[in-house]
Amino acid sequence: MIKPLNFLVSAGPTREHIDPVRFITNASSGKMGFMVAEAALAAGHQVKIVTGPVTLEYPEKAEVIETITAMDMHAAIMTNFPECDVLVMTAAVCDYRPTKTSINKIHKSDETFILRLEKNPDILLSVRRLEKNQTIIGFAAETNDVIISARRKLEKKRMDMIVANEVGGKEYGFAVEHIKATLLFKNGENRELGRCRKKDIAEIIVKEAIKFQESSR
Ligand code: C5P
Repeated sequence: MIKPLNFLVSAGPTREHIDPVRFITNASSGKMGFMVAEAALAAGHQVKIVTGPVTLEYPEKAEVIETITAMDMHAAIMTNFPECDVLVMTAAVCDYRPTKTSINKIHKSDETFILRLEKNPDILLSVRRLEKNQTIIGFAAETNDVIISARRKLEKKRMDMIVANEVGGKEYGFAVEHIKATLLFKNGENRELGRCRKKDIAEIIVKEAIKFQESSR
């Protein structure tokens, strides 16, 4: 029996403000991350959740760190990563943020409005620099070339496992109870799970994370 592990789970979208009332975000609800947190707690592990803005109830026994922007989430993960055994990055981090956030509400004027964006840091690429013996699991939400793109991400971000998640349809993906998933492992193995409940995927993720930890000891 493995000792209780420290899980660090990111969840939800990030929000990148244009002005005080407008922002860029995405359709992530945070459900997947919160279910991973619940599954890890149910298996007797300790859990910290770094969440973007969500409307979900927080699991009672988890420590929850609230963030808004990708930069906030980056800082929170970097601070908490050294003490974790397992990082599960389910968050849909915005790739870009406005180069400037206006202090006041921007009033409409011209017929076109050009918004300049700059790239956010990649959290998984940043944590790899701090890594000791942690297990790193990520997600790839894709509409096309799902497996090829997910495998590319797993290799680039040097994860142990990635959950390739087909999004875009109504039956599975963001904000619903199901995802259509394939697990891709760093040893080259792919395990197709098909359409399944986020709750079931969450339990599988926790089990796989424990296996990675056991094999690294
Ligand atoms: O956005 P992308 O498809 O590249 O996300 C793949 C994985 O990388 C996800 O687990 C996501 O949480 C993570 N990610 C990250 N930092 C970003 C963007 C994504 O850690 N800036």
